[in-house]
Amino acid sequence: MAKFKSKWICQNCGYESFSYLGKCPDCGRFSTFIEEVVQEKVEVKAKNSSMNIQTSASFNYTKIKDVKVDKTIRISSGMEEFDRVLGGGFVEGSLCLLAGDPGIGKSTLTLQTAKNISSQNKKILYICAEESTSQVKLRAERLNADCDNLYVTQQNCLEEIIKQIEELKPDFLVVDSIQSVFSAAILSSTGSISQIRECTNILMRIAKQFNITTVIIGHVTKEGNIAGPKVLEHMVDCVLNFEGEKYKTTRILRGIKNRFGAVSEVGVFNMEDSGLIEIKNPSELFLSDRETVSTSGSAIIPALEGTRCLLLEVQALTGSSPYPNPRRVARGVEYDRLLQILAVLEKRVGLNLSKQDVYLNVIGGIDIIEPAADLGIALAVLTSARDAHINQQTVCIGEIGLNGEIRSVDNLEARLKEAQKLGFKRALIPKINNKTTRERISKINIEIIEISKITDAIKGAIC
Ligand SMILES: Nc1ncnc2c1ncn2[C@@H]1O[C@H](COP(=O)(O)OP(=O)(O)O)[C@@H](O)[C@H]1O
Ligand SMILES: [Mg+2]
Ligand SMILES: [Zn+2]
Repeated sequence: MAKFKSKWICQNCGYESFSYLGKCPDCGRFSTFIEEVVQEKVEVKAKNSSMNIQTSASFNYTKIKDVKVDKTIRISSGMEEFDRVLGGGFVEGSLCLLAGDPGIGKSTLTLQTAKNISSQNKKILYICAEESTSQVKLRAERLNADCDNLYVTQQNCLEEIIKQIEELKPDFLVVDSIQSVFSAAILSSTGSISQIRECTNILMRIAKQFNITTVIIGHVTKEGNIAGPKVLEHMVDCVLNFEGEKYKTTRILRGIKNRFGAVSEVGVFNMEDSGLIEIKNPSELFLSDRETVSTSGSAIIPALEGTRCLLLEVQALTGSSPYPNPRRVARGVEYDRLLQILAVLEKRVGLNLSKQDVYLNVIGGIDIIEPAADLGIALAVLTSARDAHINQQTVCIGEIGLNGEIRSVDNLEARLKEAQKLGFKRALIPKINNKTTRERISKINIEIIEISKITDAIKGAIC
């Protein structure tokens, strides 16, 4: 007989304790522990073995040479932007977690995808666990997604959901959302870590066993995590984040984990009345609000997002500070990165910002993670402080070392091509030491200024 025990579980990371803890020793968050009743795992003993092996399936070993691989079949979401993030479409029988803030458009995206997949003659079951079927119908009408092969059911109970899956045998399953689904076999309340973990586990097994491609939707909590995020991330095949700024219509789909493709790919959409519209050339959108005359404190950076290059504008504003400790605000750029660049500017260029506030913002709500953005950030700050400006037609590429040297970056060719495509005439780039790179980029019609030190960049770019 299964034993039941009460445990305190961190709702952020899944850390388990036998008593209440104010601070989680694993993730460091406060007041995240909730008491849950958990069923003890049943230990399975393999036959004729002295070892206690917890296993659910029997297996035999084979030489790796002899392992037969099923050909992976991809199902297109019908949207290029979505397919790229997935690495070429959903892998049949895989389970994908789509996470994002409430209201960002997760249900819209999955409903549109369901519509596209139904047109490939596939049966889809959409589990409405938090909305009524009529609410989903209204959305479907708006998105023109009330199609033939799309079945909806309003159901929260996992056992009932399984029954309906068995009956309908869908090719594609959507669970909206996992936080609203519960299993009657688990005593904890709906939305608790134990429930989410177990329900996902069972859905994962169903996906694999019956080859049903599954998307589960997960809400992000206030702290920016999917409730029980770390617990789910390692279980599922794919984790996608759907992001966007609160008062803007641009939405970014970002791959966080992908067992069948590269991560760090992004897809860009615009939320409109008729649903999410793909933005196939995001650089144009991100640069569309740019002023037509040169302004101080602005630089254009060709940043790599997965395999694609996006041109992003980074803006800086400096000004004398009313505070004893001047403020440094970085949006879209890592805070420590900004501090390091400011330190290099002070030491190597002599720019003293110790009594100045510094604000930095990447336009369009995209985070720039890669160091190739350093040069653009440094020049944006410098031009704001000196009331100068960078030539309108110039893009800046390069990582800055602590000695003020400009370091080389990956995939220079793709960056220069994107800049050229959008009409830029000049590029500040790190010194090229590689003959093949030089040959390749010589074919791109853009003036190149090679620099080896941050001080050279100032001479080369600032008017
Ligand atoms: N009638 C409408 N016309 C245009 N946009 C709408 C309409 N209704 C909802 N939306 C948009 O859809 C968003 C909600 O999308 P939804 O897919 O339900 O989000 P989620 O599932 O992530 O909570 C709203 O924030 C709004 O931007
Ligand atoms: Mg929703
Ligand atoms: Zn924790």
